[in-house]
Amino acid sequence: MRDVNELVVGLDERAYPICIGSGFLEDIGADLARRNIAKRYCIIADETVAGLYGETVNKSLRNNNIAAECITFPAGEESKNLKLYAHLCSILAQKGYDRKDGVIALGGGVTGDLAGFVASSYLRGIPFVQIPTTLLAQVDSSVGGKTGVDIPEGKNLVGAFYQPKAVYIDIDVLRTLPKDEFLGGMAEVIKYGVIRSSEFFEFLSQERDTILAMQPDILEYVVKTCCQIKADVVAEDEREGDIRRILNFGHTIGHAVEAVSGFSIIHGKAVAIGMKAASNIACKMGFLQVEDSEKIIQLLKEYELPTEIPPNFDRQQIKKFLLRDKKIVAGKIAYVLPTTIGHVRITTEVTEDVVDQVLS
Ligand code: NAD
Ligand code: GLY
Repeated sequence: MRDVNELVVGLDERAYPICIGSGFLEDIGADLARRNIAKRYCIIADETVAGLYGETVNKSLRNNNIAAECITFPAGEESKNLKLYAHLCSILAQKGYDRKDGVIALGGGVTGDLAGFVASSYLRGIPFVQIPTTLLAQVDSSVGGKTGVDIPEGKNLVGAFYQPKAVYIDIDVLRTLPKDEFLGGMAEVIKYGVIRSSEFFEFLSQERDTILAMQPDILEYVVKTCCQIKADVVAEDEREGDIRRILNFGHTIGHAVEAVSGFSIIHGKAVAIGMKAASNIACKMGFLQVEDSEKIIQLLKEYELPTEIPPNFDRQQIKKFLLRDKKIVAGKIAYVLPTTIGHVRITTEVTEDVVDQVLS
């Protein structure tokens, strides 16, 4: 493939490449043929992404003698459910997919989580490839093997850890992404700066205009930096027993806000709100200096991200969702809280009173 950077998620026999570049969608078929991952593929994509890029990927596979077909579903978080999951499994069964066949997730985090969960469980697991097309999916959800669906009780409550065989990130596809979705992805990008790298955090502040103008070199650097951080964390702790939990900074309250909004607040924006809430909790616990918290909030605002829980949201309902969080340990919610920019700590010692103060 032309001019593609390759990172590796170091998971021994399940290690896989993350190929990052610009304008190489049509080369993916040749690379998949070379890697010999599967003999045919079901490309799963939402209707929007299928319309934009489905045929390019499909053709690229067929040009390399790999059979492929595209299965679509309605775009949006509402599709990340058990009914659609079962429907997709049924389609694979009806079409006779076997263990040598694979699934390609072409799309954002919804597609990656849903198609990944299908791949993880159909025939107890078939090969899986990610082609993320949103900024959020490129910097976060396509790497690390978390797959799953939402249930009425909460987000991502049913799923599996299932690593892809390869991730192909073409930043060119971001040109068609609605601006709001791009900004949502920036929330996850800022997350990496806060949890792991003050230099990257500063870079995001300094390069705000070039990033928002989607200057390709800078954007590629941003995506590569995030993927490298994520790959390192996942290689250290694949199953979120310990360090991987830092990737959930902003997600505890963020997921609850997202759920209470009925998913009208997109994931990345809910995470931005959650990051401010976590920073406020950190200040109240005496872990974080107010000036660092202000820097975090300022950067979120520079990227036009929301930081406040809408006043009309029922706080009790948010707290109900918090108690269904996957990070609960012995009935206590584990919060990821910044201590400085570039470092976080995880604690189950946040009192209900502090949470109430921050939510109000
Ligand atoms: P999404 O998949 O719904 O995509 C957002 C919208 O952008 C959709 O309408 C889609 O059709 C459209 N779109 C996608 N790519 C496009 C493109 N290139 N051009 C034009 N339109 C395009 O949402 P998302 O923000 O990518 O992902 C959010 C989901 O990811 C949530 O469900 C969240 O829980 C999950 N997530 C998972 C992980 C993980 O580790 N597995 C991490 C973070 C988030
Ligand atoms: N997005 C959090 C994780 O992958 O662990």
